[in-house]
Amino acid sequence: MRNICIVGTGYVGLVTGACLADFGNQVICVDINHDKIEKLKNGLLPIYEPGLKEIVENNCKRNRLTFSTDIDNGIRDSEVIFVAVGTPAKENGEVDLTDVFRVAEKIAANLNGYKIIVNKSTVSVGTGKKVEEIIRKSSASNVNFDVVSNPEFLREGSAVGDFLRPDRIVIGTSSERARGILEEIYRPLYLIETPIISTTMETAELIKYASNAFLAVKVSFINEIANICDETGADVHVVAKAMGLDGRISPKFLHPGPGFGGSCFPKDTLALTKIAESSGLKCEIVEAAISVNRNQRLRMIQKLKRLVPQVKGKTIGILGLSFKPNTDDIREAPSLVIIDHLMTEGAVIRAYDPVANENMRRVFPSVTYCESSYETAEGCDALMLLTEWNELRELDFSRIIRQMNSPNIVDCRNIYPPEFVRGFGFNYISVGRI
Ligand code: UGA
Repeated sequence: MRNICIVGTGYVGLVTGACLADFGNQVICVDINHDKIEKLKNGLLPIYEPGLKEIVENNCKRNRLTFSTDIDNGIRDSEVIFVAVGTPAKENGEVDLTDVFRVAEKIAANLNGYKIIVNKSTVSVGTGKKVEEIIRKSSASNVNFDVVSNPEFLREGSAVGDFLRPDRIVIGTSSERARGILEEIYRPLYLIETPIISTTMETAELIKYASNAFLAVKVSFINEIANICDETGADVHVVAKAMGLDGRISPKFLHPGPGFGGSCFPKDTLALTKIAESSGLKCEIVEAAISVNRNQRLRMIQKLKRLVPQVKGKTIGILGLSFKPNTDDIREAPSLVIIDHLMTEGAVIRAYDPVANENMRRVFPSVTYCESSYETAEGCDALMLLTEWNELRELDFSRIIRQMNSPNIVDCRNIYPPEFVRGFGFNYISVGRI
């Protein structure tokens, strides 16, 4: 059992804190956002993430998990400090490390004994070393400390499962003492034989970017293949399945759609190109993946226009707003660009998402937000399916068609077999399938 402080209660911080408490550690999650911490103290989670509420409740009840805005005391009372603050993109695409460095100063000011500073935030290569320098320079005492890079690979929507059953754990540090303590913290995962990669801080930092960028490249690659399928009559799902059966390729992340979104891939791909640039290099494959992704959203609008050539004055229903299912996160979601384009061209938008309506309302207050897919379909000239939520996989099309003005569907996630939907009398277009 260790005393652990988690700085930052975003996705990564909250899931890490809750799960490490569940492993039996004493965890304090701190954040400068009073509102967030007040809510957490009252059992209200600031994000929607399956399974997280139960773990948080359970561990709070057992007094192993607490929340506070008192960062100083959180640091002072803990031996291991996980830094999970936001690292947003700056205007030029580089990663903004202001909060990471601010936390380093805080740690320096509160270094009352040996501490391990574990960086979970996605940061550019060399950040761990800078954190080390800041703490060394700013701390008044000569107290010993170690810095570790321990990137997180959890996905939104399945974050708890990913934390508890990771493909690998990466521990980047030159300190054997810190490595030993981190391995001990992650011991519950040894039982399921999780591989541990022990490496340097710089390598660990780059592993995170390289992994996300490679997955983003895979998505853009299959989207380009899907576009070729659209024009040639080939079926992208069969192509992807056959490609995926080659063990060197793997079937994962070969699902075509409106392009990748979220808080990670768009930001991290761009940041990697900046890291390359700062070393006098070019990351051309990743640059291409970014540009393919940008165009893929616009291709979805072109698809719609094959069914509704003039969208001005027409009503378009959007089903699914979050960037992926099981999350209310709309950051960089394809729906943002698509709704914006359609509204600029004079379309009237109705929309429904099982959990993201409220987040989208803040961005587009003039959209009509509905309580169900069926309500959304009322009077629509076309529906666009943008997120593959489970509940959108079981639509009653005979009911949907009665609500609509014209029977047009663009299924941007290939949720349905084309012939099945056409059987109800719909004009149906999907991605990379005729
Ligand atoms: C991603 C990585 O998968 C995690 O390993 C990583 O920890 C995380 O970023 C992060 O850096 O924090 P996440 O952004 O939650 O996780 O979502 P993914 O499931 O990876 O999906 C990313 C985007 O790619 C989504 O917009 C999704 O719709 C799209 N995608 C994914 C496809 O269009 N096709 C696919 O085959 C797979």
